[in-house]
Amino acid sequence: MSKRTLIKDIFQNKPIGENLCVKGWLRSIRNSKNFSFMVLNDGSAQSTLQIVFDPNMSNYDEVSKLLIGSCVSVEGEVVESQGKGQSVEMQAKNIEILGSNDESYPLQKKATSLEFLREQAHLRPRTNLFGAIFRIRHHMAMATHQFFGDRGFYYLNSPILTAVDAEGAGEMFNVTTMDLGNIKKTDKGEVDFSKEYFGKQTSLCVTGQLEAECFAMGMGAVYTFGPTFRAENSNTPRHLSEFWMIEPEMAFMDLDGNAELAADYIKFLISYVFEKAPDEMQAISNYHKFQAKQNKEEFVDHIAVLEKVKNSKFEKITYTEAIDVLSTSGKKFDFKPEWGVELQTEHERFLAEEHFNGPVIVTDYPKDCKAFYMKQNDDGKTVRAMDVLVPGVGEIIGGSQREEDLGKLLKRIEEMGMDKEPLWWYIELRKFGTAEHSGFGLGFERAIRYITGMKNIRDVIPFARTPNNCDF
Ligand code: 4AD
Ligand code: MG
Repeated sequence: MSKRTLIKDIFQNKPIGENLCVKGWLRSIRNSKNFSFMVLNDGSAQSTLQIVFDPNMSNYDEVSKLLIGSCVSVEGEVVESQGKGQSVEMQAKNIEILGSNDESYPLQKKATSLEFLREQAHLRPRTNLFGAIFRIRHHMAMATHQFFGDRGFYYLNSPILTAVDAEGAGEMFNVTTMDLGNIKKTDKGEVDFSKEYFGKQTSLCVTGQLEAECFAMGMGAVYTFGPTFRAENSNTPRHLSEFWMIEPEMAFMDLDGNAELAADYIKFLISYVFEKAPDEMQAISNYHKFQAKQNKEEFVDHIAVLEKVKNSKFEKITYTEAIDVLSTSGKKFDFKPEWGVELQTEHERFLAEEHFNGPVIVTDYPKDCKAFYMKQNDDGKTVRAMDVLVPGVGEIIGGSQREEDLGKLLKRIEEMGMDKEPLWWYIELRKFGTAEHSGFGLGFERAIRYITGMKNIRDVIPFARTPNNCDF
């Protein structure tokens, strides 16, 4: 009888009277005269199971001295709980110690800071808060596949190694097998990439979009969901060097349809998480409430805020209108909002948090703020770009209608001083059976930040990679 039952299933099915086996980690232990209690979590759910055991147990002395974080296997009967707070508990018949723990265990019961837990990233999955965050992350991944799958999108695995700087921002990590102490040079003294593993310079991808476009222009609609890498030197609560992105790409789609899909996707993510992880959402909300109290801040329940977003229409304005709103707002910004300059986080947050008090889609940015592939508007100044901005985070989605006109695309590539050669295949999409098409990229961690209300992106990815930090 040592087949393990999940604590999640015990609470769901309430198998009163059955003898079962659970395995998990000790959250607390308390010994009184006649009975001892331990609280066990096995990661399957937010709920913990209370185990009651009595001093007659053969290894009672050892078990009763166990410390928080120890790992045990318990066999016993599921009974209705005597205490308040939970419906069922387990009356232990036998407790096997799988892995005991000592005083040096860093996660003691007292509240530990998120900063400290980032240094204990290997152990933080055992905490109440991080269990909740990462179960929600899982559900958001499942929601993504369901959302796009149900709408006829095919899941595409775009490559991670690439020879093109698809965003043209020069923020790529090089991939090399060269001996860094002895780099092969050409006669001109430049790095001789022909001696590289791939015979050319390669990097980790910053996006899978260009490859997704190839597949959209054949399969109709696809989405990628994979890791992307950016060597931007941004030490902020919303930038990671390695993050996950979901990139849908659709043929026969303009920017309006693209924006509609983006809004529907975000709303679907919220609804799905509400349905699948209400306990997790509540646990995180409790955490925020506790933090607000500690910091003497007003507590705003993010569950209630999201509940409204779930059923609301996303506001939509053009970049030019947004600059107008910002410059006439009377608000003092660190960076003065100015037409022609990319919106700063403070501008994005002002729009979403103070002006619209909800998600907003900003469209038609100046072409010089955006990548080469975006469809050019007739005004000669702007492109059919869209960013989705949300309260608390700012930009969580960036997307656009793509330039489908061969001549215009080539001209833009030249204007921007980019090398055409590595993009020959991308350019050919416009030569052979071109069509209107659009897509966007959702930063997965930014979306998780939005839905969990966590303030730092490092707390919603299992192991964060940021400038000067690649531990674990
Ligand atoms: O706006 P970005 O750069 O757009 C693209 O990469 C396009 N190729 C997407 C497309 O049209 N298919 O990035 C998209 C999203 C951003 O809105 C943001 O949420 C996230 O990716 N993102 C980051 N997330 C974490 N850390 C970073 N350093 C990020 N950079 C972008
Ligand atoms: Mg962007």
